[in-house]
Amino acid sequence: MDVLELKGIERTYRTGAVEVKALRGVDLTVGEAEFLAIMGPSGSGKSTLMNILGCLDSPTAGQYLLNGQDVATLNRGQLARIRNETLGFVFQAFHLLPRTTASENVELPLLYRDEQLSWKEIRDRAREALGIVGLGDRLDHTPTELSGGQKQRVAIARALVTKPRVLLADEPTGNLDTRTSLEIIELIQRLNDEGLTILMVTHEPEIARFAERVVILRDGLIRSDRRRTPLRAADSLADWSEESEDAMDEALGDRMETETTPPLEVGR
Ligand SMILES: Nc1ncnc2c1ncn2[C@@H]1O[C@H](COP(=O)(O)OP(=O)(O)OP(=O)(O)O)[C@@H](O)[C@H]1O
Ligand SMILES: [Mg+2]
Repeated sequence: MDVLELKGIERTYRTGAVEVKALRGVDLTVGEAEFLAIMGPSGSGKSTLMNILGCLDSPTAGQYLLNGQDVATLNRGQLARIRNETLGFVFQAFHLLPRTTASENVELPLLYRDEQLSWKEIRDRAREALGIVGLGDRLDHTPTELSGGQKQRVAIARALVTKPRVLLADEPTGNLDTRTSLEIIELIQRLNDEGLTILMVTHEPEIARFAERVVILRDGLIRSDRRRTPLRAADSLADWSEESEDAMDEALGDRMETETTPPLEVGR
C-alpha cells in the first residue's frame, strides 16, 4: 500500500494583500520503504510540502492520504495521533531542548501519547533509540555537550522513538560538514533498509545521490521525478577515509621533505 498520496495539492499563503502560491498542484505517491530526495531552488515550496506531509499545515486545495486515510476528514485528536504514530521529523537546526539530556529529549514524543507507558518503558525506549543512532554512551549529555553530528543523531533518535513508518527530514545535513553529513546519510540509509520510508529535502546534489528517487520542485510544481540506483554512504565513507588519509600522508610527507631539505646555500 502507498504510505503517502498527494493529489492536486495547493497551498496559497496570504500576507496582507500579497498572495504567494507556494504549491500549485502537487501530485505525489510514495510507497513503503522508498527513499526520496526533494530538491529545488530556494522558495520552490519544499518546506511547505514537508509541512503539509507532516500534517503541520493544511493544503488550500487537494487531497492528502496518509496510510490510506484522508487527512482532511480527521479531527484534531485523530490527527495528533496519526502524526505521532506514523511520522517522525528531523530538521536542519536539530531543535533539541537545551539543558535537557539526550535521553530526555528523546523521551519527549512518548509523553504526548495517550497509551500508558511507565517511566521505565519510556526511558528504555529512549535508550534503545539512542542505541540505534550510535549514542548509547551519551544518554545524559546535554546538547551543548554534543557535536553537530551527535545532535542530529539525537534528533533522529527522537524521531524514531515512536516507531514511525515515515521519516520527514528537512535539510538534515544542512548544518554539518561533509564527513558528518555522510555519517548521517549512512544512518538514514540503514533505517531505510529496515523499511522506514524517507523523504529528505536537500540542496546538495551530492547528498541526493544517496536517494533512490529524486523529486525536483520548481515554482510550486514537481518538475521531475526520477529513480536511479543510489550510492551507498557506507562506501563513500570508506573511500573518503582512504582518500583523506592519503591526502594527510601527502601533506605530512611534503612538510617532512621541506623540513629535511637542507637550506639553500646562498652566495657560497
Ligand atoms: N508562512 C508563510 N507565509 C507567507 N509566505 C510563505 C510562508 N512560508 C513560505 N512562504 C512563501 O512560500 C514560498 C515557498 O516557501 P518554502 O519555505 O516552502 O520554500 P523552500 O523550497 O523550502 O525554500 P528554502 O530552500 O529556502 O528552504 C516562498 O515564496 C515563501 O516566501
Ligand atoms: Mg525550506
